[in-house]
Amino acid sequence: MKKTYLFYLASLFLWSCASDSENDLVDVTEPSDNITYTINIKPIIDLNCIFCHRDPPINDAPMSLLNFENVKEAIQNRNLIERISKQTGENGAMPLGGPRLPQNLIDLIIQWKDEGFKEGE
Ligand code: HEC
Repeated sequence: MKKTYLFYLASLFLWSCASDSENDLVDVTEPSDNITYTINIKPIIDLNCIFCHRDPPINDAPMSLLNFENVKEAIQNRNLIERISKQTGENGAMPLGGPRLPQNLIDLIIQWKDEGFKEGE
């Protein structure tokens, strides 16, 4: 009796983990018509940019990219999209010293801009 119950709990737990990570994947890789900073953009910037563009920034990075306003401002006034669109190794390419972001992630950031910078939750 007790074992059955534990097994039931364990499978519920596993099931919820599995479906969570599936949702995360879909959100990050498949553009929808509702790109938001919180769900789609922040994870890309956190993984690839805030190593230097933290608050305060390090390694000579000129600004932080830690929050919604920072990233939106950098797209509007600091050519962020041009920087990430450059080829690996090209002068001014971001992330500095790293490989170019996968094209689908660059496209997602462009789409986010075109849809008017939705912040999300
Ligand atoms: C290894 C450190 C490092 C990483 C990682 C990095 N940057 Fe930078 N970034 C710099 C430095 C240093 C500069 C200043 C030199 C320059 O403008 O090229 C800079 C400049 C910039 C600028 C131009 C700012 C201005 O005022 O002209 C943008 C936009 C930018 N980074 C975006 C990004 C984005 C987006 C990412 C992630 C995809 C990223 N960076 C990752 C170090 C980094």
